[in-house]
Amino acid sequence: MAKPISRHVPLIIGNWKTTPATREEAVKFVKGLDRKITTGKYKLPRRAYYLAAPDIFIPHLKAATKNGYIGSQNVSGTSLGQTTGQTIPSQLLSGGADFTLIGHSEVRATGETADARAHKVALSLQAKLMTVLCLGEHERDKGGKYLQELEDDVKHALSLVKRDLFEYLVIAYEPVWAIGAKTPATPQECFEVVIALRRALATLGGIDYAKKVHILYGGSVLPENAKSFLEEGGVDGLLIGRASQDVQDFYTIISSCH
Ligand code: PGA
Repeated sequence: MAKPISRHVPLIIGNWKTTPATREEAVKFVKGLDRKITTGKYKLPRRAYYLAAPDIFIPHLKAATKNGYIGSQNVSGTSLGQTTGQTIPSQLLSGGADFTLIGHSEVRATGETADARAHKVALSLQAKLMTVLCLGEHERDKGGKYLQELEDDVKHALSLVKRDLFEYLVIAYEPVWAIGAKTPATPQECFEVVIALRRALATLGGIDYAKKVHILYGGSVLPENAKSFLEEGGVDGLLIGRASQDVQDFYTIISSCH
């Protein structure tokens, strides 16, 4: 189980989505990445990355990597018992997952409601599974209403969670318009959202807590722009889709951010 460590250590998470095609490719990928991390010219922490993988690969990836944390891309909000085709947070944890994403916009697009997401977050945190809550606006209005909406969204998503479980939480800001797109948000666009999200977190858990939470940026992160989000965008890490599906690109991002 992984609790997010101090904000001084950047949290770099790859989101593999429905790649790669086979277990063999997945294992080869992490072995290749670990080799670069241990033999490359940069001094990196022993555990330098997180990968949200297809659930079925999680135990195999855990056995194959020494340098990464492996997690899931979604959880079910149902409880132990008679629901077909779902995996609940405590089962993921027991099966070896170090963390999970919840509320990714591609999951929301399949019909996950804000209430369902809040329920998943509560169950996942109750299981003490590190939970990366994803949120982001579909589009921006000139008057800045989206900032208030994001604050309301984070409060709603955490409305069922007990305060003492907040330490397992990470927030990923992913503007929907930047995911899978050609251009990311600018670090400045990211910065104002980070302030709004910390304000919302301070209302929920106090200022000291709000200062400790990792807030990540995701949406068209590439090797050439990754560092700018940490340096100028005020975030503590990244959630990376396409560029985490290539060993060299992901390694370049990991090493540039550490
Ligand atoms: P992208 O995806 O980096 O390919 O834009 C980000 C995500 O879906 O988390």
